[in-house]
Amino acid sequence: MSTVVDFHTHVLPQIDDGSASVAESLALLRAEAEQGICRVVATPHFYAHYDTPKRFLERRRESVERLREVMESFPELPKLSVGAEVHYFPGIGDADVLADMAIDGGRYVLIEMPMVPWTDRMYRDLQSIRDCLGLIPIVAHVDRYIGPMQTYGIPERLAELPVAVQANAGFFQRFLTKSMALRLLGQGQIHLLGSDCHNMKDRPVNIRKTVDLIETKLGHEAIARINSCEDRILNDRIIPV
Ligand SMILES: [Fe+2]
Repeated sequence: MSTVVDFHTHVLPQIDDGSASVAESLALLRAEAEQGICRVVATPHFYAHYDTPKRFLERRRESVERLREVMESFPELPKLSVGAEVHYFPGIGDADVLADMAIDGGRYVLIEMPMVPWTDRMYRDLQSIRDCLGLIPIVAHVDRYIGPMQTYGIPERLAELPVAVQANAGFFQRFLTKSMALRLLGQGQIHLLGSDCHNMKDRPVNIRKTVDLIETKLGHEAIARINSCEDRILNDRIIPV
C-alpha cells in the first residue's frame, strides 16, 4: 500500500483550534495509522499578531511532551515530526524567529498565506525567507487560494519561487476541484500532501482516499515523486522546486 507523510496536521493537544485533548490527539493518530500513514508533521497555528514566539514555543514544547509521553505506550502510531503553521505577516522574510518554527529544526517552514489576492510584497517576502534566512517556505494548503473558475496565477508564480507547495487531501476529493488538483500534481506544482486534520468530527484525517486516487489516476510515479520530496525535506536537503 502506498503511503505519504501527512505534512499538515493539528494533532497536538490544546495548543490551537485542533485537538482539544490528549485523547483526541491519540484518536487522530490512530486514524492516521489506519490510513497507512507512518509519519505525521504537527503544525500548530502561530499568529504573530496575537502571540509571541516565546509563548508559542513554550506551549508547543509542553504539548509535544504530553503527547509523546502517551505515544510511547502505542508503538503502532505514526512517528511525530514537529513544526508550525506560521500565518504570513509583513516582514516575515527576515524574522529570525522563523528558524524555531521549521520542521524538526531543519530548514523547511510551513507558511499560511492570507486569504486575499497576494501582493508583490508577499511574493518578495517568500523569496526573502530563502535569501535572508536560509529557510525554505512550504506554502500551506495551496488549494485555499485557487478556485475552479480562476487560479489567480498563483501556482504559476509559485513555480518561480524557492518554495515547496502543500495541498490538502480534500482538494483531490471535491467534485469541483478534483481535476485541477490532479493536473497541478501531475505538472509538479504540488509537492506535499496534508490532511489539515483538526478533530475527529468535522475536520478528520482524510488522506487515504486521496493517495489511492492519485495512484489510480496518475500512477505510482506520482506518489514516488511526493515521497522523494518528503524524504529530502525530512532529511533537510533542498528539493528541486
Ligand atoms: Fe492548518
